[in-house]
Amino acid sequence: MTDRYAVIGNPVAHSKSPLIHQLFAAQTGQDMVYEKRLAPLEGFGVAVREFLAEGGKGLNVTVPFKAEAFVMVDVCSPRATQASAVNTIGIGVDGRLWGDNTDGIGLVRDLKDALGWLLCERRLLVLGAGGAACGILGPLLEEGPRELVVANRTPDRAEALAARFHSLGPVRGCGLHDLFGIGAFDLILNATSASLSNALPVLPLGLVASHTQCYDLAYGREPTEFQRWAWAQGAAGAEDGLGMLIEQAAFSFELWRGVRPDTAPVQAALRQKALEPKDSNA
Ligand code: ATR
Repeated sequence: MTDRYAVIGNPVAHSKSPLIHQLFAAQTGQDMVYEKRLAPLEGFGVAVREFLAEGGKGLNVTVPFKAEAFVMVDVCSPRATQASAVNTIGIGVDGRLWGDNTDGIGLVRDLKDALGWLLCERRLLVLGAGGAACGILGPLLEEGPRELVVANRTPDRAEALAARFHSLGPVRGCGLHDLFGIGAFDLILNATSASLSNALPVLPLGLVASHTQCYDLAYGREPTEFQRWAWAQGAAGAEDGLGMLIEQAAFSFELWRGVRPDTAPVQAALRQKALEPKDSNA
């Protein structure tokens, strides 16, 4: 019987997850379908139960429900507990719901394996201190950076977030204005939601040297404002978050199906699709 999976969120219409998982399933010969489920803002739990009652085997959870999913599941992986957020739900052999978080490991996989960027002993800057930043700090610190600075428009949030991860490595939080004169970083990650509204955090000169790599967790058909900023500053590279999206999906797929898909051809297919006329990307 064909197994059913879905991504659940609000909004969810533009999610690329169904296409990604469909390509993974075709590549690995898995008998499954993957759909989008729009949950009402006040109705996440009900929507999850409905999908499972219909025979659904697993869910990806996206904005704004990852924290709610963390509370809802019966058992959580250490990664999800660290992030206080769940992006992958499955059903255990005992019938209990389990939750995991593949966002951070997906990012690290993209940075290290797909892009070949180094993290160990490097100086890292994470912009933003919301849910997206929270999901990546643990896996980034596990790579052994020399220093990880979390900078946020609202400094208190960055300080509080950094304090939660202190035990994992050299992390500290500050305001964006504290970045003046702090020097260049090896890697700058934009985990703010600014790109979603074509905005850019206010950043000082001097953060980017000629070897600096920049990465926006957001992605779109066009380069983000942050990527444009990075290129204008002379960065060595400026990538969007499509690779992270595909890698986190691959980890979810592996958790559900026990098979690891090859992500490179899927990323190539999605990049190619993005070049096609707009209405063919629906
Ligand atoms: P997400 O789950 O996408 O991280 P969030 O929890 O609402 O969403 O967090 C959004 C993050 O982007 C916050 O760090 C926010 O900064 P504040 O804490 O000061 O609100 C940041 N952000 C959003 N728009 C921004 C902008 N135009 N400039 C700088 N930071 C911005």
